Amino acid sequence: MNLYTRLINKDHPLPPDYVPENLTDIGIPFDAPCGDPKRLLEFRTAHAAFSLIQAAQKESLILTGISGYRSYKRQQQLCIGHSNPASSTPYQQISPAPVNPYVALPGTSEHQSGLALDVSCPAVNHELITEFAETPEGKWLVRNASLYGFIIRYPANKESVTGIPWEPWHIRYVTRPLAGCLRLTGLTLEEYYTTFGAPLQNPEVKSNGYSQLK
Ligand code: DAL
Ligand code: ZN
Repeated sequence: MNLYTRLINKDHPLPPDYVPENLTDIGIPFDAPCGDPKRLLEFRTAHAAFSLIQAAQKESLILTGISGYRSYKRQQQLCIGHSNPASSTPYQQISPAPVNPYVALPGTSEHQSGLALDVSCPAVNHELITEFAETPEGKWLVRNASLYGFIIRYPANKESVTGIPWEPWHIRYVTRPLAGCLRLTGLTLEEYYTTFGAPLQNPEVKSNGYSQLK
């Protein structure tokens, strides 16, 4: 399956040793110091995020990166409160459920793929809170994320489908064709796969995009 359109959730986890190739710090404004791994994103995702944030800036809106790439171990630490970060035991074997519904089980977080980015803005003190959705930045993100290949991955009222509460700050790169499709249909990634079974052919990743369009 295409890396960018891959479904990652509790039923479709990533292997513990999965680390994306070409992790990149593209230099977007981040609420984390240089060198912090959370500033990293998969290469193409990083470029798309850069364009997205630059477009917002042109409208005097300040989107700040809060959390990008997270390793399996980092996600494990978030779940178990740093109690045993050196353990290589799969998380599911030592604890059956996360305490915090906003924190995905290790292996099931899109942040491990480098394709997900949490963003916020100064009006909510760069916090990851649902009030972000009421800010001009949060509203702009809903309207414009798909133009840059991103979706709001965990929408309101879809917790029963995604398994994750509403996160207006969590954007996931899925390529522009798929993001546009999901924006127009209102489908989550889970619903898209249930409905269509297979991902859209993505002209952007073909060696010759024009052959798709002729
Ligand atoms: N907050 C999202 C669900 C994560 O931990 O990946
Ligand atoms: Zn997130």
